[in-house]
Amino acid sequence: MSREVPLVAGHALLGSLKELREDVLAAYLRAQRTVGDVVRFQAGPPGLRTEVYGVFSADGIQQVLGSQAANFRKDNPTYTEIRESVGNGLLTSQDDEYVFQRRMVQPLFTRRRVNGYADAVHAEAIRTIEGWKSSPDGVVEASAEMAEFSLRAVTRILFGADIDTALDVVRRQFPVIGDSVLRRGVSPVRLPRTWPTPANRRTLAAQRELYDVCDRIIAQRAAAGERDDGSDDMISLLVRGRDEDGSGLTGAAVRDQILVFLLVGHETTATSLAYALHLLAGHPEAGARARAEVDTVLAGRSVTAEDVDALPYLNQVLKETMRLYPAAPIIGRRAVADADVAGFRIPAGADVYLAPWVTHRHPDYWERPETFDPERFTPDREAARPRYAWFPFGGGPRACIGQHFSMLEACVALATILQRYDIEAYDPPGHTVSAALGMALRPAGPLRVRVTARTMEAAA
Ligand code: HEM
Repeated sequence: MSREVPLVAGHALLGSLKELREDVLAAYLRAQRTVGDVVRFQAGPPGLRTEVYGVFSADGIQQVLGSQAANFRKDNPTYTEIRESVGNGLLTSQDDEYVFQRRMVQPLFTRRRVNGYADAVHAEAIRTIEGWKSSPDGVVEASAEMAEFSLRAVTRILFGADIDTALDVVRRQFPVIGDSVLRRGVSPVRLPRTWPTPANRRTLAAQRELYDVCDRIIAQRAAAGERDDGSDDMISLLVRGRDEDGSGLTGAAVRDQILVFLLVGHETTATSLAYALHLLAGHPEAGARARAEVDTVLAGRSVTAEDVDALPYLNQVLKETMRLYPAAPIIGRRAVADADVAGFRIPAGADVYLAPWVTHRHPDYWERPETFDPERFTPDREAARPRYAWFPFGGGPRACIGQHFSMLEACVALATILQRYDIEAYDPPGHTVSAALGMALRPAGPLRVRVTARTMEAAA
């Protein structure tokens, strides 16, 4: 018999509203430590009170994302907001529509294709770090630098030759959409989008401009596609893609996919990279070991996709960074029917949240969880851990399709940086920069590092 889920104690009138609003990650972490692996929060005044569930143990997560995935759907407010803001692409679609989309999108993310993106990623990394030579005092702010790098990298892969046209609109308008999704996705009261409030007007204008630029480029690719001009940016591939019965994505469906890739495909990798640089700078031994590995494997030449598997320590560094700073720190679902998760009863209609932020610090799986230690990710130690102790890319049938691309992008960029610059701490020893929740996890303050250009002889 399933047990009732214990309630996290909160304010008599407002429940846990204040804690969840102020710092949802800290509130979840505290709840796991003080209440347990499956918890229930109440928030808001009586009558308007909402309830959310948190599931933090590896076996519970496996049930929600894996074995009971059909019962835990993307019907929650955040996914509804994303659908309404950028269309119903692969991240949010469900059922038959999802199955068709996944079939059409999968060929863009095969290992061969993803490896083919490495040169573009390398070129964008070089372009980003060129500017570091002239930075005042040799200090750079890693999160802004990595955000610009990964925005350019993903936009180039999506839009090919039209990168500059797209970048101009994406830079101006995407933050407006992101803010709106965040604000509306967590707000208990959502005014209809059609009401002409200033915020709604801004969001609609941003959406229109983004749709227009995508539609224009998609139409050009569709016209060129009939001649098959050989372009292999993602828009061209999606426009030309056909199922066995000859059906393909409509122009609007291509746009939906592109906008989703932009929404989840750049800030996430930027966050991992920025924290990786900051952590390596603050842990000189790990930094020296990563640099030595890069120098040995590359011996002065540029990194390629084939090198990624030959850089195990760099991959460990990235995994450990994503443990401490998972770019998607919370993953939500809504239960369709009553369910048993890890021995607890979750009722139909419940909003259920999983939190890599919490599980990645769970004392059952991680010793000294706040310590940065890439040795946790040696193959033996990884194999000894439950599958869902580490799940920055989600799991089950809706696991991240961009996982390999993101790891390749981060590894290529990090190798390129370490080959060309020595990275040192700017902040005093032990300084950490906490994280805040945006569309992706973001550093709550500047992530400064000192950089000194190396000579290529030193790196060879
Ligand atoms: C560090 C980088 C990244 C992280 C941490 C990350 C994380 C995630 C997570 C946790 C999910 C599952 C969401 C859920 O279950 O509700 C997901 C799904 C997804 N991600 Fe990523 N992601 C990253 C990079 C990317 C990139 C670079 C792309 C594409 C260019 C991408 C595209 C997608 C898509 C399309 C889905 C939906 C897949 C489906 O439902 O079939 N992600 N991502």
